[in-house]
Amino acid sequence: MEELGLIEDGAVAVSGKKIVAVGKTKDVLAKVKIDRKTKIINSEDKVVLPGFVDCHTHPIFGATREEEFELRVKGKTYEEIAKAGGGIRSSVRSLRELSKAELIELALPRLDRFLSFGTTTIEAKSGYGLSLKDEIKILEVIKKLDQIHPLDLIPTFLGAHEIPDEYIDKREEYIDFLINQMIPEVAKRKLALFCDVFCEKNVFSLEESKKIMETAKRYGLKPRLHADQLSSLGGAELAGEVGAISADHLEYISDSGIEKMKECGTIAVLLPGSVFGLGKDNYPPARKMINKGLPVALATDFNPGSSFTESMPIILSLACLKMKLTPAEAITAATVNSAYAIDRGDSIGSLEKGKKADMVIWDIKNYKEIPYHYGVNLVDKVIKNGEMIR
Ligand code: NIG
Ligand code: FE
Repeated sequence: MEELGLIEDGAVAVSGKKIVAVGKTKDVLAKVKIDRKTKIINSEDKVVLPGFVDCHTHPIFGATREEEFELRVKGKTYEEIAKAGGGIRSSVRSLRELSKAELIELALPRLDRFLSFGTTTIEAKSGYGLSLKDEIKILEVIKKLDQIHPLDLIPTFLGAHEIPDEYIDKREEYIDFLINQMIPEVAKRKLALFCDVFCEKNVFSLEESKKIMETAKRYGLKPRLHADQLSSLGGAELAGEVGAISADHLEYISDSGIEKMKECGTIAVLLPGSVFGLGKDNYPPARKMINKGLPVALATDFNPGSSFTESMPIILSLACLKMKLTPAEAITAATVNSAYAIDRGDSIGSLEKGKKADMVIWDIKNYKEIPYHYGVNLVDKVIKNGEMIR
């Protein structure tokens, strides 16, 4: 993760939407046959990196929840607010009242912000609908946004984000519905690639999460898991056991969880923005994971409750300052590892021949300035599919 493969005086040659050569400017110019479709992107004295891949976001919601933010500042916990009717359930009530067109209008400026901070692909979860109709509505919104906006959105079904109000006293029925109706329908309509579960005390237990992920697998949806975020339940071990592509959060991961994930090839997606956003200090043990050889990815966890930011650079700052990743490790985690965490390692996440020409030119001389110069936007230009779009 420490090895970035930096090239001084570098250039990237692009033809159409793809990278055709990378190397020293003089070598690239010597090697590439230049035709009408070719562009040479030269770093001059700036830094060029692959676009960030934000592999964990919840971008489709209605009302924001700044009142909860203030309550937390005054001492209430995330769990207390959720129990009192706030939290995910309040976002569900708000989303259900909105049409697809309204949700698209609300999402577009969020997607613009992702791009403006150097992100070119996001994973996007449903999970604020929690009825068949509303979950499908969200996934269709994600599909539409992917078509109309330059940012790429990779869809994840998160029907197991919470038990909705109308099932509060009959949770087994909701889980049956999820397994027998929602997952099959989402799969049939090909609206998601992944299926996520919020495995947590008072949300979905280990057993319930396992059942949901096993069903998802049978329908061709790859499992991923919100694991060990608020308590040490053993979600990391479960994620490994079912062969999940990633386990995310992991603030309370155990040593055996780290071992199990490594053994099973499950990527650790760390979300320091949600620790920071909840005003807490229990960052996941990233150094331990990296030192044990577990691949670590970084993401914003953009959502209206625990982590309200579209900025990957601030996540890199938190990763360095709070979890002691080096700047190089943080960049690896936010690009190529994050691409593998959404099964896109072969097409995005690094500047390599054959990959998509998704890259960012930064107004800096050294990549270490990205986490160092926190809270400001140092992006100069964003290139998506070979086109300069910002
Ligand atoms: O990743 N942990 C569950 N889901 C989100 C929070 C969602 C919300 O509060 O609306 C998270 O932190
Ligand atoms: Fe999340």
